[in-house]
Amino acid sequence: MNLQYLEEERIFRLDTPGTSYLIGIVGEEGFLGHIYYGGRLADLSGIKTLLRTEEAPYTPDTNDRERISFLDSFPMEYSFHGVGDYRESCVRVRDAAGAGAVCLTYVKHEIFRGKEKLPGLPAVFGGQDDVMSLAITCEDKALGLGAVLKYSVFADTDAIAKSVCFTNLGEKPLYLEKALSGCLDMDNREFDVLTLHGSWGRERHMERKKLGHGKFKVSSLRDGNCHQEHPFLALLSPGADQDAGEVYGFHFVYSGNFMAQAEVNQFDSVRVVMGIEPEDFCWKLEPGESFQTPEMITVYSEKGLSGMTKSLHTLYRKHLIRSPYLHKRRPILINNWEGTYFDFNEEKLIEIARQSAALGIEMLVMDDGWFGDRCDDSRSLGDWQVNQEKLKGGLPYLVEQVKALGMQFGIWFEPEMISPDSRLYREHPDWAIAIPGRRPGMARNQYVLDLSRKEVRDHIMEEMFDILHSADIAYVKWDMNRPLTDLHSAALAPDRQGELAHRFVLGMYEMQERLLAEFPGLLLENCSSGGGRFDPGMLYYSPQIWCSDDTDAVERLAIQESTAMLYPLSTIGAHVSVCPNHAVGRNTPLETRGFVALAGTFGYELDITKLTEEEKELVSRQTRLYGSLCELIREGDYYRLASYQENHSYDCFQVNAADGGQALVFYTQVLNETNRKARFIPLRGLLEEARYVLYQADIKTEELFVYTNRIFSGSVLMKAGLPVERMWGDFQGRLLYLKKI
Ligand code: GLA
Repeated sequence: MNLQYLEEERIFRLDTPGTSYLIGIVGEEGFLGHIYYGGRLADLSGIKTLLRTEEAPYTPDTNDRERISFLDSFPMEYSFHGVGDYRESCVRVRDAAGAGAVCLTYVKHEIFRGKEKLPGLPAVFGGQDDVMSLAITCEDKALGLGAVLKYSVFADTDAIAKSVCFTNLGEKPLYLEKALSGCLDMDNREFDVLTLHGSWGRERHMERKKLGHGKFKVSSLRDGNCHQEHPFLALLSPGADQDAGEVYGFHFVYSGNFMAQAEVNQFDSVRVVMGIEPEDFCWKLEPGESFQTPEMITVYSEKGLSGMTKSLHTLYRKHLIRSPYLHKRRPILINNWEGTYFDFNEEKLIEIARQSAALGIEMLVMDDGWFGDRCDDSRSLGDWQVNQEKLKGGLPYLVEQVKALGMQFGIWFEPEMISPDSRLYREHPDWAIAIPGRRPGMARNQYVLDLSRKEVRDHIMEEMFDILHSADIAYVKWDMNRPLTDLHSAALAPDRQGELAHRFVLGMYEMQERLLAEFPGLLLENCSSGGGRFDPGMLYYSPQIWCSDDTDAVERLAIQESTAMLYPLSTIGAHVSVCPNHAVGRNTPLETRGFVALAGTFGYELDITKLTEEEKELVSRQTRLYGSLCELIREGDYYRLASYQENHSYDCFQVNAADGGQALVFYTQVLNETNRKARFIPLRGLLEEARYVLYQADIKTEELFVYTNRIFSGSVLMKAGLPVERMWGDFQGRLLYLKKI
């Protein structure tokens, strides 16, 4: 890690262990140019030619005749709008006269150890020894706008965090119509673009295509609850794969509306921008007021996608997730949603708990349906009082019974929502987000609460706290089941309505912060109709996020592969459910379902009382298996070995202990084929010189692992490959364990 300003060259040099990022100050006016981002440079001689200021149209200092030409081709560090750069801008401001141009130039800078918090926003963090930060102050004097471009580099990962803070330095209000978090201009290079697309139950599927001229954008206006796009984009050199080639990854630490865009211009230069989606956004800055953008992460890898994955996993584990559960064993939970849906009472739940406890399951999570008059999804969101008819004896009785069985208790909330059929709505109809004179659109029978209002947040928090203080509750599943529409707040002035979508997200963050402050030991799991709000922002609050409502083991292979490309396995909410699966009707072996869920937080989502004795026996062995492997899976290094999304036949990944002494290989044969021989799969990250004994998990036996009588050297496993035999039937999972001798 190294961060310095080279006075003579007017260059900022930001180094992570394996990358360099260079910013230059150009000309008398002090334009900020992006010089280079890529593999770490030993010596910078000659680097400034990348700014192309020595070729036409030159800088405005020497050739003001072609000022616009300069602005339209200069590699900008942070692009601005309306004065000549026709590529995508990062900032657009409407001033009191109605004009919209911005031109930001260098004023001063500061370099310091550590990293400042971003008020009200999730952000990566670090101490004096492992993070260095740079703050470059820019200004547009004509407009009276100040902008501080913030950067942080890390000692232990090839990631850079960027954000911007704007301040109105003038005397009249300014309207920020666009305030993106960052930009990356690169010279004429060819790239593929990789993004993650999906739908409800089909979250985060990879899509890769060649980046051509024009603009390619992914974005969301749903303000959370977005299964369709992910706040991520990567540029890959042609042919780059898991282990080779260059990858530039961009990830947004935010949970609301976003855009990520890559653009190729007339000179074949590439510009990537990322930030809050400007549509539906307009923030009023009174004189002296500031606006802080959320943070974006950029990573560069010359070792393909695996390098990107490693950098992000390290960043999120060491510098983003704050939960005390980060390195702690997560309890094996059983959630009653798919088991009972709304049809449960205290007797049913206690019986589930009783049978679960006997099989080694450690926590009962009571899902939707315990409050108000909620017997289906048509009512009661917002009425967070226990339904005493359904749960006789209330929460204290239920929790005590569950605890007496040696289990912990968890509970579901959907704090951001309100049902039109609720006491809360009847008392406070204006607390729902709605446009006067227009009936708001319904989704799953519900409206969204106006979390920009403090009294709304206070009320919901009070009700949640009452519930959580009424019994010993160790876990909360925080759900969010519809996107935002009909944006209007009864509490915001007309010229501040464009702030609502962002204020909603800030309100939700504040509520989660308050929840964690009140209950520091709580295990919080975020959720949004499955994995609709799985993003780095939410990880700042909860160490795990429910990954998808689709619990089918085969479908989950793709969803979890893409999720694990960006996030550690310990963050991925994954449960074993029954067959035929409720989302797709597929039958898969219980063993396979267990192996897939093991590559996440692990738990059950079914009515355990309905399993056969044989299935229960397998469940009790699965929970023991989890016990013996959870630390390795939670803390280990993840390597993707084969992608079912690409080959449509099998899936394989590996988890290694950091010292290379142990490894797990998860293999799923999705479709069997006749007359095939064993497949050799080259492994990663082992010790070449070491020898490893191979075991195979077998939950049909008491021992859980069977010794295969095979010993391999690390180099054979990595260079020649681990043989995996064909299995009989489709959807067959295999879990192999290698131990160094
Ligand atoms: C969402 C969640 C589910 C479940 C239901 C309850 O769909 O993703 O896991 O909690 O809500 O209504």
